[in-house]
Amino acid sequence: MTSPTEKSDKIHYPVFPLIADRRSIRAYDSRPVEKEKIHSLFEAVRWAPSSSNEQPWIYLYATAEQPELWNKMFGALEDGNKLWAQHAPLLILALARKTFRRNGKENRYALYDIGGANSFLALQAVHLGLQVRQMAGFKTDVATQNLNIPEDLVPAVFIAVGYPGEIAVLPETLQVRETAPRERILQQEFVRNVTF
Ligand SMILES: Cc1cc2nc3c(=O)[nH]c(=O)nc-3n(C[C@H](O)[C@H](O)[C@H](O)COP(=O)(O)O)c2cc1C
Repeated sequence: MTSPTEKSDKIHYPVFPLIADRRSIRAYDSRPVEKEKIHSLFEAVRWAPSSSNEQPWIYLYATAEQPELWNKMFGALEDGNKLWAQHAPLLILALARKTFRRNGKENRYALYDIGGANSFLALQAVHLGLQVRQMAGFKTDVATQNLNIPEDLVPAVFIAVGYPGEIAVLPETLQVRETAPRERILQQEFVRNVTF
């Protein structure tokens, strides 16, 4: 029998304030995200590390002021995500290029690199007063069809972005989850200083 995993909602060692202040919110204000800030998010991505400096990412975004494109993106989300993402003024889809530009061979690190780049984006968002919530809950076939995604790109994750809003806009079940403590597994559970 394995022992229960120990968790805590406290930060146990000092971390960079942007890390401490980041959270995946569901309650967004309708206030638009300024164009300049949108480009700062993607500039943060631009300076993220990637295997062979391939930068195997493509980002598609839509603001609520572009309802046609925004709805095509929103339409690909799972219903559970639609419940809260309907208020997000900015939707992003991060896509991974499956093959290297230079030789067409498979890039097995593309998704890994995108994850790192999205962390840069998330932390830059906090710096700008924004927050993001990433979503694996989307229908790949609907996204591919609605957005005409080419064969060599893998839709990796949707990202809702915006200024924090009132949680009262959320359905009650989500209000409870939104205010629940954010727990994390303790370091002793995943950090080793001896061989396995
Ligand atoms: C790759 C990825 C996929 C996620 N997919 C969803 C999703 O579909 N729906 C959702 O509400 N949250 C989703 N999340 C958010 C996580 O649930 C959240 O990051 C986690 O609960 C930790 O909370 P925190 O980000 O506030 O620390 C996703 C996060 C990541 C990184």
